[in-house]
Amino acid sequence: MQLDQDCKQKGIKVISSYNFVKKTILIILALLLIFFAGAQFFQPDKNEGERNIETGLFQTAVVNDQIKALLTTSCYDCHSNSTNYPWYSKVFPVSWYLYDHVKVGKEALNFSEWGTYTDNEKISQLVDIGETVSDGEMPLRSFLIIHKEAKLSNDEIQKIVNWTEQEGMRIMEVPTQ
Ligand code: HEC
Repeated sequence: MQLDQDCKQKGIKVISSYNFVKKTILIILALLLIFFAGAQFFQPDKNEGERNIETGLFQTAVVNDQIKALLTTSCYDCHSNSTNYPWYSKVFPVSWYLYDHVKVGKEALNFSEWGTYTDNEKISQLVDIGETVSDGEMPLRSFLIIHKEAKLSNDEIQKIVNWTEQEGMRIMEVPTQ
């Protein structure tokens, strides 16, 4: 401090590296802030189709209320035509994270179009659902960070696996009746 004042009195300009770092950090923070604020204006398209459509899983398969609730909470945001958007999911970069995963997720499996799948497709989807859920691959881990309620307990995982087996058996039995 003393040295600082001495320098000032003598008109010596001190270039402090501390101040330089502080200024640079502030400029970077300001730029980031502008970037994030600006990015909010670029909202991706919303996935907000009708929830109860004729071709939906709940309309075309046998699903009990508990499984319905589990799939709705943990899977429907990415695997149906109707995503539930809490406020923070409209905020960049979460908005783009969801947009991308809904797009890719729906291509892999779309519960809203379940009724349009052939029996073979349904069965292979059911097998994949059972596998990805019991491996902990689905719901995507990154999704669970923002949607804690979507995390499945071991008991819930088992219930979903049981349902995929029952539904698969049911589909296979139908043609022979
Ligand atoms: C955050 C979005 C998201 C959520 C939530 C989510 N998924 Fe996925 N899912 C994806 C994406 C993206 C893919 C395709 C890429 C991949 O396989 O990782 C996918 C792929 C799949 C596949 C196909 C796997 C394959 O081998 O082709 C199945 C089956 C699946 N998900 C089931 C589920 C089930 C069941 C749930 C709920 C318990 C769920 N997903 C929740 C995004 C999601």
